[in-house]
Amino acid sequence: MTKAPSLAFLCIQSLKLQLLQGDNPIPDVYDLPSELLDGVIAHLPALALHNFQNHMPFKCWDDYETGDDCLTSGGRKRPRNDILGSSWKLLFKLRWPELINSVEPPADWQQLYWERHLQSCVDEAAEVAMRPAFSGRISSIHVSDKILRYICHEDHTNCQKCVCTELSFHFQTFGPYLRSLRLLNVLCVAETSELLRASKLQTLVLRWIRSEKHVEPLCKLLSQSRETLSSLEFIHCKLSSSFITAICASLLEEDIHTNGIRRFCIKASSFVIDPLAAPPAFISFLNSVRSLHSLHFCDSHLDRHIARMIFSTLLDSSSGLSSLDLSENNLSGWLSTFSSRSVIGSLSSGKSLQSLCKLNLRGNELNKYDAENLAHALLHMPGLESLDLSGNPIEDSGIRSLISYFKKNPDSPLADLNLENCELSCRGVIEFLDTLSTVEKPLKFLSVADNALGSEVAEAIINSLTVSIESVDISSIGLGHVGFLELGKRLVKRVEKLMSINISKNRGGLETARFLSKLITLAPKLVSIDASYNLMPPGSLLMLCDSLRSAKGDLERLDMTGNICTSSEADHSSLLGEFQHNGEPIFVLPSSSASHVPYDDEP
Ligand SMILES: *[C@@H]1O[C@H](CO)[C@@H](O)[C@H](O)[C@H]1NC(C)=O
Ligand SMILES: *[C@@H]1O[C@H](CO)[C@@H](O)[C@H](O)[C@H]1NC(C)=O
Repeated sequence: MTKAPSLAFLCIQSLKLQLLQGDNPIPDVYDLPSELLDGVIAHLPALALHNFQNHMPFKCWDDYETGDDCLTSGGRKRPRNDILGSSWKLLFKLRWPELINSVEPPADWQQLYWERHLQSCVDEAAEVAMRPAFSGRISSIHVSDKILRYICHEDHTNCQKCVCTELSFHFQTFGPYLRSLRLLNVLCVAETSELLRASKLQTLVLRWIRSEKHVEPLCKLLSQSRETLSSLEFIHCKLSSSFITAICASLLEEDIHTNGIRRFCIKASSFVIDPLAAPPAFISFLNSVRSLHSLHFCDSHLDRHIARMIFSTLLDSSSGLSSLDLSENNLSGWLSTFSSRSVIGSLSSGKSLQSLCKLNLRGNELNKYDAENLAHALLHMPGLESLDLSGNPIEDSGIRSLISYFKKNPDSPLADLNLENCELSCRGVIEFLDTLSTVEKPLKFLSVADNALGSEVAEAIINSLTVSIESVDISSIGLGHVGFLELGKRLVKRVEKLMSINISKNRGGLETARFLSKLITLAPKLVSIDASYNLMPPGSLLMLCDSLRSAKGDLERLDMTGNICTSSEADHSSLLGEFQHNGEPIFVLPSSSASHVPYDDEP
C-alpha cells in the first residue's frame, strides 16, 4: 500500500518546480517561517537552490547582522548564509563524495559546486566533440540526463520543457563561478572563448594540444583571461617555436606589470625550440613576468641547450622565481659554463636567483661533472631549501662536489636533499654524512635510498640521526642483518628530531625488529616508519608491540607489509584494535588481513 504524500511534501514539490523555472521567482517563499523555509531549502536540487538564492530579496542576506527577523523566527537567529552554505556542501557531497575531503576549508561550496559541475559538462562535451561524426556547435551539445538529474530533477527525462539541456545554458548561468578549468584539444575552438566570456579563469590546464589549428583559439582565450589567469599548464602537448611565441605574446600585455601569471607548467609534452634562435616572446615572457613563482618543464624533451638558455635568462633577469622543476629531461652538460672561475666573475656581477627555494632535477642523466658545475651554480641560489637530484648517476665524485659546497657554505639554508638512486657508494655517503654533522644548518630531510651502500654506512647514519635529521629515507640500500645489528648497537642516545624513517627493502630479518623496537623508545617524535619488505619473521610484531606499549610516543603508522609477521588472523585484529591513532590502525600489515580491520565504533 502506498502512503499518500503529505501536504508539506506537495507544497515543497510545487515550490521546487517553480524555482526551477528560474525567471519567475516566488516572492512569497521568502516570507515563510524559518522552519518551513529550512525544509524547503533542504529539498531543493542545485539549480533550484541557485535560483532561490539569486532572487532572495537583498534584506534577507544579512539578517544575521542587522537582527531583522526575515528568515528567522522565535528570536532564534541563524545566519541564512550558513544554512545555504551547508546545503551547497551537502549537494557537493552527494554528487562527488570522493572529492569532499580534498577541499580545504573555508570553502565556498556554491562556487566549488558549479565549477566542478561545469568541468563535468566540459568533459562530457569533449567526448561528444571527439566523435568523427560531430559537426555541430559546441554550445548546443546536450548535457546528459546523468548530470541533469543532479541539478534539476531526479527523473529528468520526464521534464518536457527544461531550460537546461544545452551546454550554453550552463556556461551562461554558472560561468561566473568558474575559476579553474581543464580543457581537451577538441574544445580549443573559437566558440569556447564565447562560452567562457562570463568566467574569470585563474587556472587553466590544457591537454593534447598538438595541432596548429588549436593555437589561435587558445590564444584568444588566453588574452581574454589575461587579467585573472595565474596558472597555466600544458600536458601532453606539442609546443613548437611558433606555438610558444603565440602563447607568450597573448600572455604579455603592453603594460608588463599587470601580468599575473604565477605558475607556468609544461609536462609530458614536447617543448622543442632552437636555443640559438629562441622565440623572443618566450625570452621576454621569462624576463618580464615579475609575478612568476613557479616554472616547470617536466618530461618535455628539454636538452642542455634549452635548459641553459632558460637558466641564464632567469639568472640575468634576477627573476623572483621560487620553484624550478626541470625533472625527467636530459640535461647533461647544461651548466658547463659554471666553473669555479666563471662563478667568481658572475657572482661579483651580483646576478642571482635570490628567491629560488626549490630546484627539481630528478632523472636528468646528470653525471659527476654536472654535479661539480651544479655545486658552483648553487652559489647563485642563496635561498635554496630543497634540491632533488634523484635518478642521476652523479656517483661519489658528485657527492664530493656537494660536500665542498656545504663546506664553503656552512650556513646554507638547504634542508631537503634527495639523492635516491645516484650510483653512490658507502664511502661517498659516509664522507657526506660526516660533513653534514659538522655544518651549522644541517639537513632535515635526506634520501639516499636505492644506492648500494651496504652495512658499513650504519654508524654514519646513526650519527646524522642524532644531529638533526627529521626525515630519512634509507630504503633499499643493502643494510642486511649486519647493517641493522650495527644500527642497533650504535643507537644509544635519544634521537630527538626524527619524525619519519623509511627502512624498507633492506632484508634485515629479525635484526630489523630489534633495531626498530629500540628506535621507538629513543625517538619521542617519531610519527611514521616504513619497514616493509625486510623478511621480518613471525614474532617481530610482538616485539614491536612491547616497545610501542612502553614508549607511549606519537607513532601514527608502521608499515609491515611484505614481512611474515603473525601466524593468525585473530592476533591481527587484536593488534589493530589495540594500536590506533585517530581511529586508524597504526600497523599496516600484510595484505591478506587488510580487509579485516575492525570498525567497532561504526553503528
Ligand atoms: C642525453 O643527451 C646527450 C647529449 O645531448 C646524448 O649524448 C645522450 O645520448 C642522451 N641520453 C639519452 C638517454 O637520451
Ligand atoms: C619507502 O621507500 C619505498 C621504496 O623506495 C617506497 O616505495 C615507499 O613509498 C616509501 N615509504 C614511504 C612511507 O614514503
